[in-house]
Amino acid sequence: MSASSSPLGLVGVSGSLRAQSYNSAALRAVASLLPEGMSFAVASLVDLPFYNSDVEQRGLPAAVQSFRNEIASADAMIFAVPEYNFSIPGVLKNALEWLSRPPDPPANGKPCALFGASVSPLGTARGQFHFRHICVSLNMIPINTPHVDIAPAKDKFDSEGRLVDQASLESIRQLLVHLQNLTMRLRDRSEA
Ligand SMILES: Cc1cc2nc3c(=O)[nH]c(=O)nc-3n(C[C@H](O)[C@H](O)[C@H](O)COP(=O)(O)O)c2cc1C
Repeated sequence: MSASSSPLGLVGVSGSLRAQSYNSAALRAVASLLPEGMSFAVASLVDLPFYNSDVEQRGLPAAVQSFRNEIASADAMIFAVPEYNFSIPGVLKNALEWLSRPPDPPANGKPCALFGASVSPLGTARGQFHFRHICVSLNMIPINTPHVDIAPAKDKFDSEGRLVDQASLESIRQLLVHLQNLTMRLRDRSEA
């Protein structure tokens, strides 16, 4: 199989650590919405320590190295972005700090998609825009459309925590197609 016909590896990251997280639940739905030719795995943030340059200088903690490896081995990323205080949660920002560090920052130049789920009917647009801002610093290339906001979350998930809102599922499906297209375009260009 040539590089250009091999499946695209997608890694998903949820910015919430809680067990009943709507964002993590929506991220799990990605597995059943993938276009043909994409594989999917979730990278957890649960074991990441707070970024501290003293710790970094002593050598990356195993959880950080493992997280960076998961991102490095993926062709594209998808982030489930909760909104905290009109921005992104510290847990997610902390993960991005670890990804941003040299040598070979593993998200550099990689395409990504994002969506968010919120208990508020106002949704996560403010948090998602902050995430896009941070993408500039890490040189991650975010998909612009569709904007996917799953809100208010309590109306969009069933009692088992599964995302059941058809419009949200369809938007994520479209997002994945756009992400696949961009990832293939970038890969073809780098092989040319
Ligand atoms: C510290 C904190 C700040 C929050 N700020 C916002 C906010 O700015 N906008 C919003 O829509 N929801 C906000 N929420 C509510 C979240 O939408 C809600 O907790 C949501 O369930 C978080 O995502 P999760 O279910 O994936 O954990 C906040 C929650 C917390 C704990």
